[in-house]
Amino acid sequence: MNADDAKAVMERLAQMDEPAAQTRLAWLVPELNRHNRLYHELNAPEIDDRAYDLLYRELQELEDRFPHLRAADSPTRRVGGKPVEGLEAHEHRVPMLSLGNAFSAEEMRDFDARIRRFLGDAAPEQVIYYVDPKLDGLAMSLNYEDGVLVSAATRGDGRTGEDVTHNVATIETVPLRVTPPEGPVPTRLSVRGEVIFDLPGFEAMNADRAASGQKPFENPRNAAAGTIRQLDPKVAAGRPLVFYAHSHGELEGVELPERHSELIALIDTWGFRNAGGTLCVGIEAVIEAIADLGERRSSLDHEIDGAVVKVDDFGLQEVLGFRTRDPRWAIAYKYPPAQVSTVLDDVIFQVGRTGAVTPVACLRPVRVGGVTVSRATLHNADELDRLDLRMGDTVRVERSGDVIPKVVTVVMDDGHAARPLVVYPEHCPECGATLVRDPTEAATVCPNSLSCPAQLRGSLKHFGSRRAMDVDGLGEKLVNQLVDNKLVGKAADLYRLKVAQVAGLDRMATKSAQNVIDALEVTKDRPFERVLFALGIRHVGESTARDLAAAFGTLDALMAASVEDLVAVQGIGPVVAESVHGFFQEPRNRDHIQELRDLGVKFTPPAPPAADAGSQALAGKSFVLTGTFPTLAREDAKARIQAAGGKVSGSVSAKTDFLVAGDKAGSKLTKAQSLGVAVIDEARLLEMLS
Ligand code: IVH
Repeated sequence: MNADDAKAVMERLAQMDEPAAQTRLAWLVPELNRHNRLYHELNAPEIDDRAYDLLYRELQELEDRFPHLRAADSPTRRVGGKPVEGLEAHEHRVPMLSLGNAFSAEEMRDFDARIRRFLGDAAPEQVIYYVDPKLDGLAMSLNYEDGVLVSAATRGDGRTGEDVTHNVATIETVPLRVTPPEGPVPTRLSVRGEVIFDLPGFEAMNADRAASGQKPFENPRNAAAGTIRQLDPKVAAGRPLVFYAHSHGELEGVELPERHSELIALIDTWGFRNAGGTLCVGIEAVIEAIADLGERRSSLDHEIDGAVVKVDDFGLQEVLGFRTRDPRWAIAYKYPPAQVSTVLDDVIFQVGRTGAVTPVACLRPVRVGGVTVSRATLHNADELDRLDLRMGDTVRVERSGDVIPKVVTVVMDDGHAARPLVVYPEHCPECGATLVRDPTEAATVCPNSLSCPAQLRGSLKHFGSRRAMDVDGLGEKLVNQLVDNKLVGKAADLYRLKVAQVAGLDRMATKSAQNVIDALEVTKDRPFERVLFALGIRHVGESTARDLAAAFGTLDALMAASVEDLVAVQGIGPVVAESVHGFFQEPRNRDHIQELRDLGVKFTPPAPPAADAGSQALAGKSFVLTGTFPTLAREDAKARIQAAGGKVSGSVSAKTDFLVAGDKAGSKLTKAQSLGVAVIDEARLLEMLS
């Protein structure tokens, strides 16, 4: 926009009174939204950027003057408002489902056969299926009332997700208002779909980050999930997220079409983007469509990890209904992870916080599944032997979902035998200590746990990480500087830092230094289990730390525990027990813990178990367990029910109160259904337990 244009606009606006502004806004908002859609969705802009900017500027000015006239679907809402304080729970009025998986044509035929068997005489000659890409993104429910976006929530456990409206509203492809070109506006609507980064957007964003010294994101899925959970919507507003619709939850005020394909076509006219689907008559056509999509997969603009196959007819869907967790009428076909060939240029050896030295392949950059990969893990010495890896070899690299890329095989070409073998160094690349091969495990370890800077950096990063002490502001760069400048030699030293010392480091100033010191102060009250996890004891992950804290209550009791005492704790095996015991026997570790205590870290014991009434929530109820559960082992589920006063028995009878059914639930489920026993899933059980 040039200065004259802007001036003219401003003058005109300055003279507008409220009724005139209202009339103008009633035209401007839908007009700008229309141009947004023409530009972003249909790739067919009617006006140039300058004309658009002029209209947008006009909108901003009017909204500044009359803030109460700002519409719910005003495009200015895309820029993101104030940060929220935390993410609130959002209960889905219609649950968000998961899908069963299939990995072969055979399993697809079984799926079709199951459907026909279930439908019996009602089965059509050929079932019509809708096949669309399974987008590897973050599942999202967009909720509209009278056509206006009122909330957006993640899937969570399917019943309750997190409210992320502040971020989702910034996504251009999320309509803020549903405007059917014909027919009524739905009174209630939830559109389900995935929030993703398109690959071109993802790569451009990473290039920008690299250029400004920020760490590029590993992969689009994690980047999308991380962005959507941010509290400050400005972050999401600045990143090119996209929403693709693939199904619906609620729909009221508009007649539901007869078929899924018709629903997708309808919501397409309402402004929702979708990834396109194919209608297939019969399962053989589905198998062909899946193969065809698989071939096009690497040339798509977005990452897909499979194809979703749905019975198209809503009437049949209703008859088919659900198994415990998944609909009978849909399935996800999963493609094998993408693989490509590239050349191994170098191998570097990274030293982790436990001293384990891990080889990492430096690869000639190559695109796998749409992402450029230049590093891949090689795990350990055994893996190098298995691969017979040589410098300069051509290797096959695989990337599956959010897993770090790995080298799967070496291409045994003519030159392979003559190339130099990749071997472990004899000395630690960081501190020069002679490496040791741990005979019980595959790991090669730097034994210099006292002063190897790499181990120190790793353990400090772990100590400050979100799930451990959660020290705000203690990122990788700061840790590296603290170690390099010898300001910190162990975790306790963090609590001795002075503002002036931290402020003197690169990219730090008095204010940011003070923030870090304040953040450290807060962590002195972290509960015992978190501090225990933060100490980085071998084999003690988050859940083991929780179990130990619950079993021993105080740090002193845990430190005094014998190996036998430790093994007696449910879930603690001999290896973990030895490791924990050994850690606390080591004078150096005891001294370190004493230092932490002297500096004010409290190791706050866990709250005592809830009073009887609370812990006996399932008193008098009888349960039967069947199938495998998503998170709980069968034994754990049983123990927790019993601890809450419930009974667990092996077979279903009329006296059974609840059947807890997991995956592959068999005859017990059928029996429970025939006896009218309540069937619940793991999520519901956990709710009852809490
Ligand atoms: S349909 C019951 N279609 O995959 C059917 N889901 O494994 C409801 N997903 O959480 C979903 N692409 O978020 C459907 N084209 C697609 C999909 C898709 C990705 C996600 C979905 C769901 C998960 C199930």
